[in-house]
Amino acid sequence: MSLWPVEPIDPVTATERDLAGLHALEVVLELEALPGEPVAPLAHAMAEYRHERPLVVRKAWVVRQGGKTGEIVAWAYVLYLDVPENRNHAHVWVAVHPEVRGLGLGSALMARVVDTARQWDCAVLDFEARVGGSGEPFLRSIGAERRLIERRSRCRTADIDRKLLEGWVRRAGERAAGYSLIAWDGPCPDELLDAFVVLKDVMNTAPLEAFEWDDEHFTADHWRAIEATMEARGFDTWQVCARHDDSGELAGYTELTLPRLWPGASWQEDTGVWPKHRDRGLGRWLKAVNALRLLDERPEVEFIDTWNAGSNEAMLGINVAMGFRPLENWGDWQAATDSVGEALRRRRRAAAS
Ligand SMILES: CC(C)(COP(=O)(O)OP(=O)(O)OC[C@H]1O[C@@H](n2cnc3c(N)ncnc32)[C@H](O)[C@@H]1OP(=O)(O)O)[C@@H](O)C(=O)NCCC(=O)NCCS
Repeated sequence: MSLWPVEPIDPVTATERDLAGLHALEVVLELEALPGEPVAPLAHAMAEYRHERPLVVRKAWVVRQGGKTGEIVAWAYVLYLDVPENRNHAHVWVAVHPEVRGLGLGSALMARVVDTARQWDCAVLDFEARVGGSGEPFLRSIGAERRLIERRSRCRTADIDRKLLEGWVRRAGERAAGYSLIAWDGPCPDELLDAFVVLKDVMNTAPLEAFEWDDEHFTADHWRAIEATMEARGFDTWQVCARHDDSGELAGYTELTLPRLWPGASWQEDTGVWPKHRDRGLGRWLKAVNALRLLDERPEVEFIDTWNAGSNEAMLGINVAMGFRPLENWGDWQAATDSVGEALRRRRRAAAS
């Protein structure tokens, strides 16, 4: 039993007041970990809540302080991606306001998550929690294991060394002779789409440490739907691909996303180069081209954020040289749905006795 009722919510159709409540809770969690850092404005968060990513099946719940009419003090969601790969995994987020932690709200929400994951035949739960944060003892208490550590890094655009990046672009002329760049903003050109979704498979070569996860493969339709969602959420996207001139093969790519509703922010998303095309400076070239364009065309952007596995030395090496600095570390955790259900049952029995 939770202190206050757990109610379902669907962020796509929720009232603006409830979305403002979810956003306020997430801002509290972000500032708890990163005091003084910029936070997403409400309009940006709202556009994300309203426009679900394609093929995502999600259920979410909230708890309000004092019951029905109070402020949202806790929420949780569970989702799976309706694609053939990893269909037995459900991704989980549970967040409780620091002032009402330790009262059992997290456990009450997790019980809903487990029931739903079972209905969906998701036997594995995937979680994320800040390293050293309050989520870790909670996840440990339900039998989850930390299997991957990801570093979140931030590059302040004021600290970017333009000369260094220009040097990378110049050197590409020698090191990457025989390759050329193709760039586009927004949707991928039709004639490149099939080759581009194959290229995206290169992300399956990024290290996952002990995290159990099967390779993912995009289809052209799925990618088109993601592009449409990015547009609806208010993102500009800048893609740069390297093509091997002789074979015509796409060798690598990088993606930078720029939220129009949060003009100071940008995200360095995927960067990948196929193993046979590595060690020619393609990764540096691709990233330098987008970063230099950012400095020229978007002076209002204050930072670029990116995520890498802590063990991804090749990517971290380029990022650190560009000016990315560690901001925080997040763990990716996993547990069997049934064992989480059992741990919660044991806790309820102990609390009742
Ligand atoms: C993780 C979180 C959701 C827990 O919420 P909560 O309402 O405090 O959780 P509960 O009160 O149900 O606690 C359940 C158990 O977690 C463990 N736990 C929670 N906080 C703990 C702490 N600070 N130290 C040690 N154990 C703790 C205990 O085993 C507790 O069981 P008990 O009360 O029988 O001792 C909350 O701390 C939070 O929002 N953290 C930030 C978001 C996050 O990291 N989420 C990760 C999960 S996806």
